[in-house]
Amino acid sequence: MPDDHAPGRRYAFETRLGHVGRPGTRTHGFVNPPVVRGSTVLQPSCEDRRKSGKDRLSQALVYGVMGTPTHHALEDAICEIEGGTRCQIVSSGLAAVTVPLLAYLKAGDHVLVPDSVYGPARSFCNSMLARLGIETTYYQPTIDAAGITALFRPNTAVLYTESPGSHTFEMQDIPALAKAAHAKGIKLLLDNTWGIHFFQPFRHGVDVSIQALTKYVGGHSDVLLGSITTAADEDWERVRNTAMALGQYASSDDCWLALRGARTLAVRLQHQMEAGLTVARWLAARPEVAQVLHPALPGAPGHDIWKRDFTGACSLFGVVFQAGTSTEAVEAMIDSLELFGIGASWGGYESLALPTTGTITRTFEPGFAGPAMRLHIGLEDPADLIADLERGLALLR
Ligand SMILES: Cc1ncc(COP(=O)(O)O)c(C=O)c1O
Repeated sequence: MPDDHAPGRRYAFETRLGHVGRPGTRTHGFVNPPVVRGSTVLQPSCEDRRKSGKDRLSQALVYGVMGTPTHHALEDAICEIEGGTRCQIVSSGLAAVTVPLLAYLKAGDHVLVPDSVYGPARSFCNSMLARLGIETTYYQPTIDAAGITALFRPNTAVLYTESPGSHTFEMQDIPALAKAAHAKGIKLLLDNTWGIHFFQPFRHGVDVSIQALTKYVGGHSDVLLGSITTAADEDWERVRNTAMALGQYASSDDCWLALRGARTLAVRLQHQMEAGLTVARWLAARPEVAQVLHPALPGAPGHDIWKRDFTGACSLFGVVFQAGTSTEAVEAMIDSLELFGIGASWGGYESLALPTTGTITRTFEPGFAGPAMRLHIGLEDPADLIADLERGLALLR
């Protein structure tokens, strides 16, 4: 076995996840890399310290905040998952959103953000970016290339995207938006948490890909972590410099947990994709339901884009109830469920339900027939989940 498990992209995704970031003989044959914790990193001599201290962008280990071998093993795994070349681990998924925004925006700039963006990202734009003199315009997420081009201003520096939106599941035409952005020298940032590895961002023109590792990579609802991945060195340097300037750091223990999650990511995703689609199809046939917002479901909004650009789907989707259903009735139905927890976040092994209507902020109303909820399907047997939902839906009649 080689000293360093660098599997190379000729192997299948599942195989690569089992080998990437493993230390081989460097740790006496133990399968996993150790949790390396530390602030001080000792240097062999003053000259070595002087030389390595200059290279803040390398993975040279000069001070703990620059990361440890545990961080670097996870960064390698995320590059493997997204097809990127370099990655920066940060303290949460939200930090993975805010760090690249701060990396590319300065006072006087303009940023375009989809109306379906993750709520705290919207709050960041409206508070922190506004305070720094950066203006945000929210756009319809399903906008086409001509539409987005019409919104570009001379000072537009970033086109931010999230596809699909994590509450209302609008799919974005990322290749078309990237082409339009690049024609004007604008950077395209994508929150790829839903797409994980089913959407390969750098093959579709994305400059910087954001993931909340808190979700499926962690996979057990016990860790908060984010990643920022790039394909071009200059993008990585910009992101890395900003993360360092902000003192961004994630604990080695959390990186180790996320790396452990990555080992089983492919099999969990496969099960959750199938279970999610089973539940989504069942819901789509129910009389209480007007629409299921699952991009991988034929006929659902954005399905054509999903089919063109994605190789699979995670298990987070929306359900719109018939007109005339009250929000209170939907909440009572959610309260009655035995197997679905009521909670934010997603991507863990457990199923979750959350009301959407009344909990999200929009510039353009989604225009659904009735109230909506969001479901996350975990690793339970989908037949049990369907039975639970059937008992709950009875309350709506
Ligand atoms: C789409 C999306 N991006 C980013 C985040 C932020 O992740 P975290 O909870 O790790 O801050 C979330 C969290 O729910 C999310 O849904």
